[in-house]
Amino acid sequence: MLSDRKSDMSEPHIRMNDLNVWYGSYHILRHITADIPAQGITAIIGPSGCGKTTLLKSINRLLDEMEGTRVQGQIWLDGMNIYDNGVDVTEVRTRVGFLAPKPSPLPMSIYDNVAYGPRIHQHDHNSRGSKNQDLDRIVELNLRAAGLWEEVKDRLRSSASQLSTGQQQRLCLARALAVKPDVLLCDEPTSALDPIAAQKIEAQLRELKKERTIVVVTHMLRQARRMADHVIFLWMGELVEAGPAMQMFAKPRDGRTQAYLDGDIG
Ligand SMILES: Nc1ncnc2c1ncn2[C@@H]1O[C@H](COP(=O)(O)OP(=O)(O)O)[C@@H](O)[C@H]1O
Ligand SMILES: [Mg+2]
Repeated sequence: MLSDRKSDMSEPHIRMNDLNVWYGSYHILRHITADIPAQGITAIIGPSGCGKTTLLKSINRLLDEMEGTRVQGQIWLDGMNIYDNGVDVTEVRTRVGFLAPKPSPLPMSIYDNVAYGPRIHQHDHNSRGSKNQDLDRIVELNLRAAGLWEEVKDRLRSSASQLSTGQQQRLCLARALAVKPDVLLCDEPTSALDPIAAQKIEAQLRELKKERTIVVVTHMLRQARRMADHVIFLWMGELVEAGPAMQMFAKPRDGRTQAYLDGDIG
């Protein structure tokens, strides 16, 4: 199925069909139907409380973890409805990674943070030696992909908690990448960071979008303008408008989108 996607880039990578989410009796996402194209960055924008995080978490079934949440509708990922009975949720979360707003490295070394996922997923190896070499390579590769390698290569065994917040977020990015997700969900990935650290995360995500589908939730319009290839605009739990970023920012179709972009609402 994956190869189908790569050979036909006109097909959306993720397709949400009439998605509804309730927290208890509160109908928080209403009839969301949208496509997320393969590769590139899709930004989910809208004012605080409009349902961005909820929508993002629905894409790798993180809402399952929350008591009192009910989901209805389908989310198709490479032709599989992730809400079908019998779907392996662990597999979904391996294929769809998640980067949280506040960096939360595991209480272990820099190296072990990145090696954590691959160790769990690791297949048989002939000898312990080759296994460790593989891990070394995986750790380096993913720290490079997160733009952190040069800063930490000489202290891989020191605790992740000694890193700055910005470095910790890039470490969490490396950790998420290490299990080779083909979709990466990022929830306000720079909201806890200073502008320089934020810039670094943005730069890495722009680089990473060449190889995978990236979805970024942001309430910062300027960030969306800098990063997005596609945009989904949510307003009070409903999808108002979705489409290519250039078109949406230049000539939105809906009056509410225009008002939001102009700063008149939200
Ligand atoms: N666990 C929860 N239980 C009940 N209501 C929630 C929960 N999480 C979020 N909400 C509510 O759902 C709405 C959407 O939240 P959220 O998806 O976090 O929005 P956003 O990320 O756009 O700020 C908000 O009104 C919020 O208060
Ligand atoms: Mg949120």
